[in-house]
Amino acid sequence: MTKTFPQIAPHGGTLIDRQLTGDARDAAIQQANGLERIILSELNLADLEMIAVGALSPLTGYMDEADYTSVVHNMRLANGLPWTIPVTLSVSAEQAERIQAGQDVALVEQVEGSERLLAILHVSEKYTYDREVEAQNVFRTTEDKHPGVARLYKLGPVYLAGSVDVIDLPLRAQTEFAELRYTPKQTRAIFAERGWRRIVGFQTRNPIHRAHEYIQKTALEIVDGLFLQPLVGETKSDDVPADVRVESYQAILKSYYPASRVLLGVFPAAMRYAGPREAIFHAMARKNYGCTHFIVGRDHAGVGNYYGTYDAQLIFDEFEPEELGITPLFFEHTFYCKSCGQIVSSKTCPHDKSEHLILSGTQVREKLSRGELLPVEFTRPEVSRVLMRGVQAKERA
Ligand code: ADX
Repeated sequence: MTKTFPQIAPHGGTLIDRQLTGDARDAAIQQANGLERIILSELNLADLEMIAVGALSPLTGYMDEADYTSVVHNMRLANGLPWTIPVTLSVSAEQAERIQAGQDVALVEQVEGSERLLAILHVSEKYTYDREVEAQNVFRTTEDKHPGVARLYKLGPVYLAGSVDVIDLPLRAQTEFAELRYTPKQTRAIFAERGWRRIVGFQTRNPIHRAHEYIQKTALEIVDGLFLQPLVGETKSDDVPADVRVESYQAILKSYYPASRVLLGVFPAAMRYAGPREAIFHAMARKNYGCTHFIVGRDHAGVGNYYGTYDAQLIFDEFEPEELGITPLFFEHTFYCKSCGQIVSSKTCPHDKSEHLILSGTQVREKLSRGELLPVEFTRPEVSRVLMRGVQAKERA
């Protein structure tokens, strides 16, 4: 019999589950008929799914003003628990007029022109907010060239707060990567069944390159299991699409990763590009999935030049290790060195820059679009082929 070990506690102590079943679900469907409806954005859909399955524990819905203000200014919920990213639901001024605190509203998604009921929001509060203050604190900039700021500036002026009861997950939970969409409850069960006590989580919005593989496997050397969790929610349009990202993992998993030590699942979140603050957010979510460790490398969740290369590591110093619970594993910028003959970082390699193989995104795209495989030291050929199909499909579109 496999010995079982206590698992890491979810953030805040309890794994949240906001999915209705049975009679309660039937009653909510009935009730929703007469309610004001709010159409959810891509970001809202990702957040709703994460709240429903407990990936954002202890959140049970959208933040009220006390939590929101505390998160924006202090990186903590009003009760002091670390939390770095506002999770909010905005509406237009006109819609806000029709909704009062104490009321229930229906949250829906638009699918091919019709509305699909997802959840009931029990509105506890509505409040206005200052978008520049939110941008400056969360994204460290008010420039609308930043994709997270641009998205924020398009939101309605009123936030609705309250817990949600979820009737159905967004349709994508059934149609996109359904077999890889493990919930925190499921990953916790898998980790327990495999007897993994220490599990390192890996966040990514990119296809897998050799530098990723190096940091993943280096981390795996000191823990029991590796949970690879590419993000599949909304990203900016020039990021590699989620299906290509996931396929790049599937292309090499069997040949280069031991099945008994590695689990591939997808992370339903949307990218916010909030760099340091998002690194903490990513880590808290992975703790909810049952990870004890979390990889933070160079410019985690960064975009452009908005954050310093290691800002997403430095932010961990602003919290006590025990209040975060999960242990970050920090990695320097890694790359291939011809003289060393392996992936290295400035910590481990004494050679000159000219020995280092570093390709920009543009160089990579140009090679792939010419039908050239990337150097094997940079990307495995199996992955190059997936990427080439992705680039060429995009060019045809
Ligand atoms: S992210 O937006 O999801 O952080 P990405 O997929 O590029 O983007 O990175 C996934 C993780 O790998 C992050 O923790 C990032 O810091 C790390 N990482 C990516 N490339 C490197 C690299 N060359 N060296 C060190 N860490 C890296």
